[in-house]
Amino acid sequence: MQTVLTGITTTGTPHLGNYVGAIRPAIAESLTPNTRSFFFLADLHALIKCHDPKQVHQSTLEVAATWLALGLDPERTVFYRQSDIPEIPQLTWILTCMTSKGLMNRAHAYKAAVQANEEERSADPDAGITMGLYCYPILMAADILMFNAHIVPVGKDQVQHIEMTRDIAQRFNHHYGEHFVLPEARVDESTAILVGLDGRKMSKSYNNYIPLFVPQKTLRKMIMRIVTNSQGPEEPKDTDCPLFQMYSAFATPEQTETMRQRFAQGIAWGIVKEELFELIDAQLATPRHRYEELMRHPEHIEAILRTGAAKARAISAPFLERIKRAVGISALG
Ligand code: TRP
Repeated sequence: MQTVLTGITTTGTPHLGNYVGAIRPAIAESLTPNTRSFFFLADLHALIKCHDPKQVHQSTLEVAATWLALGLDPERTVFYRQSDIPEIPQLTWILTCMTSKGLMNRAHAYKAAVQANEEERSADPDAGITMGLYCYPILMAADILMFNAHIVPVGKDQVQHIEMTRDIAQRFNHHYGEHFVLPEARVDESTAILVGLDGRKMSKSYNNYIPLFVPQKTLRKMIMRIVTNSQGPEEPKDTDCPLFQMYSAFATPEQTETMRQRFAQGIAWGIVKEELFELIDAQLATPRHRYEELMRHPEHIEAILRTGAAKARAISAPFLERIKRAVGISALG
C-alpha cells in the first residue's frame, strides 16, 4: 500500500492548466488500487501569498468544488482542509526546531524574493518577506510527514521542498528514532503543461489562463483569443504551437494524429480553435454543471470537508501524540 499526498494552495481560480497538469492525473491516480490518497486544500499556505480574506475564502470554495465536480471521490480518498487539522501546525513547530536556518536560506522562493529586493536596490534584502514565506517549506514538510506519504506528485518548482522535507525527516529520525517515512517527489514529465493565452506557460501569476468552469460562451471567446501566427488558412502549419498542444492535451491519440496531418496539409487557425473549443466543452460540460450545483450549496462541500477532516485526524492525532512523546512532551504521571 502506497500513500500519495498532495496539496493545492487556495489563492486562485482553478484553470485549464491546473486541470491537465495536476487535477486530472491526481484523480486518475486516486482510483488505482493499492494507493491511499490524501488531497487537501492548503489554506494555511494560502496566507503566505495572499492577504485578502475574501479571496482566500472564495478560492477554498472554488478549489473544493472543482475537485469534487471533476470526480474526486471523497469516499476513496481523504479530502480535507489543512486548517481543519490542528496537528499540522503543531508538527510544524516541532519540525521547525529540527530545521537548520541555513536550509531555509537556500529555498528558491526565499532566494528569489531576496534577489528581487537586491535588484530594486532596496536597503533591506529581506524587505517585505514574512516569516511565513521563509518557513513555507517547514509547513509543507509537516503536511507530508504527518501522513507518512511515500509519493508527492508536484510540479517541478516544488521538488526542492520535497528534498527539504526529506532532510528534515532524516534529521528528526536520526535524533529521535525512526518515525517518518522519507517521501519522494513525483514530477510527471509526460503530463501536459499548457501554454496560456499569451504564449507563456498558463499560470495564475501571468494572468493568461482560461478558468476551468467559465460559462460555455466565455470559454469559446477565450479560446478564440489564443495567440497564433499570421499564416494563411492553406499554409502547412507547425504543430509546435499553443493551439496544437492544447488540443492534444484533451484529445485521444487518434484525434491528435488526425489533427497533426491536417496541420501538415494546411488548416485555418479559426477551424482549429472551433474544434478545440468543442473538444474541451464536451469534456467539461458535465463537470461544469456539477460545479455550478456545488457552488450553490457550499454547506454540502463543508460537510464533505468535515468528514474528510475527521478521517485525517483519526490518523494525525495519534501520530502527533507519538511524535510528542518522542521529543519529551507527554503526561507527567
Ligand atoms: N506548495 C504547494 C504548491 O504551491 C502546495 C502544497 C502545500 C503541497 N503543501 C503541500 C503540495 C504538500 C504537496 C504536498 O503547489
